[in-house]
Amino acid sequence: MCGIVGYIGHKEAEQILVTGLHRLEYRGYDSSGVATLSVGEDAPARGVRMHLRKKAGRIANLARALRDDPAPGCVGISHTRWATHGPANDHNAHPHVSADGTVAVVHNGVVENYAAIKKQLVSEGVEFASDTDTEVIAQLIGRELDARLDGNGDADVPVSVFVDVLSKCLRMFKGTYGLGVISSRFPGVILGARLGSPLVVGIGENEHFLASDPAALIGKADKVVYMQDNQLAVLTADDWHMLDHDRERVSTTQHAIEAEATESDRGVYEHYMLKEIHEQPEAIENALRGRLDEADATAHFGGLNIDPRRLREVERIILTACGTSYHAALVGEYLLEEFARIPVEVEYASEFRYRNPPIDRNTIVIAITQSGETADTLAALRESKRKGHTTLALCNVVGSSIAREADGGVYLHAGPEIGVASTKAFTNQVAVLTMLALYFGRLRHLSSLQGMKMVEELRSVPDLIRRTLRCEGQVKRIAEKYAHATNFLYLGRQYHYPVALEGALKLKEISYIHAEGYPAAEMKHGPIALVDAQTPSVFMMPRGPIFDKVMSNLQEVKARHGPVIAIVDEGEEEVSEVADDVIEIPAVPEYLQPLVSVVPLQLLAYHIALLRGCDVDKPRNLAKSVTVE
Ligand code: AGP
Repeated sequence: MCGIVGYIGHKEAEQILVTGLHRLEYRGYDSSGVATLSVGEDAPARGVRMHLRKKAGRIANLARALRDDPAPGCVGISHTRWATHGPANDHNAHPHVSADGTVAVVHNGVVENYAAIKKQLVSEGVEFASDTDTEVIAQLIGRELDARLDGNGDADVPVSVFVDVLSKCLRMFKGTYGLGVISSRFPGVILGARLGSPLVVGIGENEHFLASDPAALIGKADKVVYMQDNQLAVLTADDWHMLDHDRERVSTTQHAIEAEATESDRGVYEHYMLKEIHEQPEAIENALRGRLDEADATAHFGGLNIDPRRLREVERIILTACGTSYHAALVGEYLLEEFARIPVEVEYASEFRYRNPPIDRNTIVIAITQSGETADTLAALRESKRKGHTTLALCNVVGSSIAREADGGVYLHAGPEIGVASTKAFTNQVAVLTMLALYFGRLRHLSSLQGMKMVEELRSVPDLIRRTLRCEGQVKRIAEKYAHATNFLYLGRQYHYPVALEGALKLKEISYIHAEGYPAAEMKHGPIALVDAQTPSVFMMPRGPIFDKVMSNLQEVKARHGPVIAIVDEGEEEVSEVADDVIEIPAVPEYLQPLVSVVPLQLLAYHIALLRGCDVDKPRNLAKSVTVE
């Protein structure tokens, strides 16, 4: 996610924009920038001049640059970036401008078909200054405006021309956007547009605002209007209006900026981790967006960079990762072997890089990582490349080392994950792995009916997770009961074995309670010696082919007076009669269960850590990205 702030009024825009960006820094902070319009005799055509200032790094870098070289004017747009296309540097920072410098754009979202549009524009001689998808928007609007104004930039052209051109360009894009657009040809207006990425209009006294989050308008705007998809906002200093898809004026509802809605960077949440747990439905929607293909009953990825014929020859897949990403890889093993029937090996990156296993030529290595900078995973990727293997990366941070060095890959689109304990990145990794299993399966033996069923089931996941999040009250009560424990066991089978490992890791890393994840059947081979009345066991018990086996394991723990917390399907009665506590989740097909059953485990770890007074977002000894070996 990125942060957008726009201002039009009778005050200098610069500081209003920078202050707003600071409030949005949680949304991403790898680079930032402002574009303002000033009117003065030294400006070119029509006495209007655009001022563009962009800096890599935190917003403080931009503020320093503006102190040395201010951006004057009472109209402006600004942006703090969390890269989705192109590394974090000055020229990839937003705003992006048209080749003639007359149009500036800030964008939150993904233009999925930007490559084709960019190729066409380049073939027509348009020179691009960045690697981003967003620049395509600025270039296209600039070129279309040029064609419409046919060079007579001095004439007093109605704003409706600007609106028409933006509307026409937007219809050419696939993907999502929250956009702010200004042009030196129309200095008295800011245009906003929304499809899939949040955008609000701020209403002040003889001044108006645009923002990707009302938090940016704290103390500035009196009211906000939440834009709907396909709406276009036209802002001037003294007025504003909203247009629908057909550019007809629409009525809107104004909202007071709720005090809690302007809570600092975390929005309404006390911790980033809790915010990110609750963001999982939206994050998965972003991962799925533009990648599920009903017509072909498969998934599509823009960045694999491997010919499907080559993928058909793949005889083995190695998934390599660390920590939570390793647990996602373990889920991927079950998915790829079930649906693609390709043998999969999962390797801890730190082991794989030194183990020097024999790998045949038809093996591909897939690195799975949130940060894209984990030293061990990067080293494992480089070792695989050194041996001539095709490498892919499933990564959340665009332009990160692993994303750049792999031969191809798939971005998670989970948005910035700031809590050190990974949550939405895990579920997005599993969602992407599920789509990969579908894609590989449909290259081989999966029928279109099977593919279509998976596409439909995947589309239901965000709402299923929304339904699962309702268990938080139940989880809180259970957390109060067991927060004092010093040891936990997490037990699951098949798809739930990796979920058991992930649940144990979540608890360990934020509450500092010792926890072990095991295949449920493994209990008998030693760990059951750990069971006593002070050691809770968390059992993953959604219905599946071996439900009865797991039930036996649960009974074995109960027989030794071990307290049992069971994650069960909604309405499950048999387990509820035996377990000490149950947490109900929606019943889903077995291969989708990890996406749902991990959520109560994330919440359990969070609430236990809270009760123990731990620093949930920055746990002791940990870092968000382990860039050291
Ligand atoms: C997970 O909650 C931890 N923060 C940690 O295990 C993390 O998953 C691991 O360091 C891998 O990080 P990556 O996904 O950025 O490569």
